[in-house]
Amino acid sequence: MPLKVLISEDDIQSKIENLAKDINTYYTKLTEEITAVCVLKGSVNFFSDLVKKIKLNVNYNFIQVSSYAGDITTGKVKVKSWLDEPLENKHVLIVEDIVDTGNTLKYIIKYLERQNPLSLEITSIVMKNVHPHGINVKFPGFEIGDKFIVGYGLDYNEKYRNLPYIGYIE
Ligand code: IMP
Ligand code: MG
Repeated sequence: MPLKVLISEDDIQSKIENLAKDINTYYTKLTEEITAVCVLKGSVNFFSDLVKKIKLNVNYNFIQVSSYAGDITTGKVKVKSWLDEPLENKHVLIVEDIVDTGNTLKYIIKYLERQNPLSLEITSIVMKNVHPHGINVKFPGFEIGDKFIVGYGLDYNEKYRNLPYIGYIE
């Protein structure tokens, strides 16, 4: 299937440069260390590129959840693996690939908040402006419309994750 480029590799990398600047500015006043929570699998490329540009100690944490089968959201969040370190008294930054309905993040936020982090913020490389989810993405990447996108971590049935750009199927 031919893919169209929606967001180029260069545009992704310069956006991450700017996000890292904002994140550095914001946290430097608060702390010397943050805990970055990578939401697998889709956020793996964004997480990896972003943390290298953060000028603080970054603790890594990984969780894996899923709510999609192909390009259809099932609406039910399934946890496949969860935190290996408690978040109490940590400044926590959730690193997401995409916010669509917001169901996945709402679920994650609800359970992470129970651990009493000092702060809990979100960065997402893409946000769809289709559903009014009301989630405050403090460090937002690109806003897109109603498209199913792949690449840069995002998949269609586990395919296309390793593309360096974000594309869509026409
Ligand atoms: P939400 O729960 O509807 O906000 O969806 C969030 C999750 O669904 C994301 O973390 C992705 O894994 C997946 N997802 C949503 N939209 C897309 C898309 O356009 N392409 C690939 N995965 C998507
Ligand atoms: Mg995801």
